Amino acid sequence: MRHINVGLLGMGNIGTGTYKTLEMNKECIARNTGLDITISRILEKDVLRERDVTVDMSQFTQNPDDVLNDPSIGIVIELLGGIEPATSFMLAALRNGKHVVTANKAAVAKNYSQLMKTARDNGVMIRFEAAVGGGIPILNALTSQLLSNKCMEILGILNGTTNYILTQMAQNGLAYEDALKDAQAKGFAEADPTADVEGHDVANKLSILISMSFGERIPPEDIPTVGITGISMADIEKASAEGKKIKLIAQAKRKEGGGVECSVGPMAIPADSPLAGVNNEFNAIYIVGNAVGELMFYGKGAGPLPTGSAVMGDVIEIGLTSAMFR
Ligand code: HSE
Repeated sequence: MRHINVGLLGMGNIGTGTYKTLEMNKECIARNTGLDITISRILEKDVLRERDVTVDMSQFTQNPDDVLNDPSIGIVIELLGGIEPATSFMLAALRNGKHVVTANKAAVAKNYSQLMKTARDNGVMIRFEAAVGGGIPILNALTSQLLSNKCMEILGILNGTTNYILTQMAQNGLAYEDALKDAQAKGFAEADPTADVEGHDVANKLSILISMSFGERIPPEDIPTVGITGISMADIEKASAEGKKIKLIAQAKRKEGGGVECSVGPMAIPADSPLAGVNNEFNAIYIVGNAVGELMFYGKGAGPLPTGSAVMGDVIEIGLTSAMFR
């Protein structure tokens, strides 16, 4: 059995979901992989918050150096959210020879090149499966199986909060504000849900997807983006009367002469199309490769456990492939 100590930066909703995923499945992970994974140190201010997991108070610290400079920690999971101090902490961990796993799409989309280069320069890995599509293993597919393809097109529903709001408005007649409150209570929304409803969260995810599938760097601020705040119940009813559903759609397509055209915005799509059947916090990514043809990935795109599953998947993948743990 190989032992791995992991440091956790941030124990909010996703940090707790990650901790719980490991707590529920520690034995099964050990049996299947030969890895004995322990979250040994946790950077978190709110130590008294009620959490549905067993955490020893001595695991908590309020000093980032206790995680970033601890030589017994081989992998740092960053779940603080926001661009800073998250990016600086990830860069420090990489420079200290630690692998990094994060769900932070804003930080990865903004600092993609610097984070990837710092990981390469220091001979360690940075992985962020949980940053795009929650529990859906889309980045893993793009960086392994699908490398045999040239990606031609991506179309996706990439935000659980807005998809939940649009579904609840259309199916249950819920008012926008009530549906948003529900999504927040279920742990789908960002700390500031403006990022969700204005489409910026989707732009971050699309920017990451484009980097990893088209090999082009398009910063999120260069992606034309419209959110769902302008969508009224009347718009939803009108779409429904026309046999359509309104969805917040991210799209990217390879251009004939080179480059990628992309955008994020609400679209009325035929109710019998595959993306129209993606409801509530579920996400879906439709992708066209020049060899494989059309593929569709579907699953829960938000929520503590689906996201925790993706985070722990990255930790395990690093544990299985890094020479550090042999
Ligand atoms: N706020 C995000 C969403 C969380 O609703 O999709 C998952 O990235």
